[in-house]
Amino acid sequence: MSVRTYALLLAVIASVPSPVLADAAAGRAKSAACMTCHGPDGLSRIPNAPHIAGQPEAYLSEQLKAYRAGTRKDPMMTVIAKPLTDQDIANLAAWYSSIQVTATLPP
Ligand code: HEC
Repeated sequence: MSVRTYALLLAVIASVPSPVLADAAAGRAKSAACMTCHGPDGLSRIPNAPHIAGQPEAYLSEQLKAYRAGTRKDPMMTVIAKPLTDQDIANLAAWYSSIQVTATLPP
């Protein structure tokens, strides 16, 4: 693909209106419902819940939609995701993906 075609393609993708605009601040407020298990900072406080801070936004929203749709099942997350709207999911994904996480490799 030529650089010009690539640039044109990117411009087209960028101009497609997104159905919901993510609001990380609203996601932060909504995340009160997630803290017991995923921690106030998105780092899990219970042994069977994963860390969700700093994960890619698209991944987080796909997982929440999968729990809501029932294509990914979990006794806790299925119940939690059910009432979430597309807007809630976009906001939560924006909030958790915006948290900076650093990793330190063992020596
Ligand atoms: C009662 C505990 C609990 C609460 C509250 C909770 N979760 Fe979870 N969450 C879990 C557990 C346990 C898993 C792992 C489930 C699995 O194995 O699929 C999980 C998985 C997830 C995943 C998938 C992570 C991955 O790496 O694939 C996301 C995203 C997530 N939760 C988001 C949320 C959000 C957003 C909220 C608040 C609206 C929330 N959770 C509230 C327990 C909880």
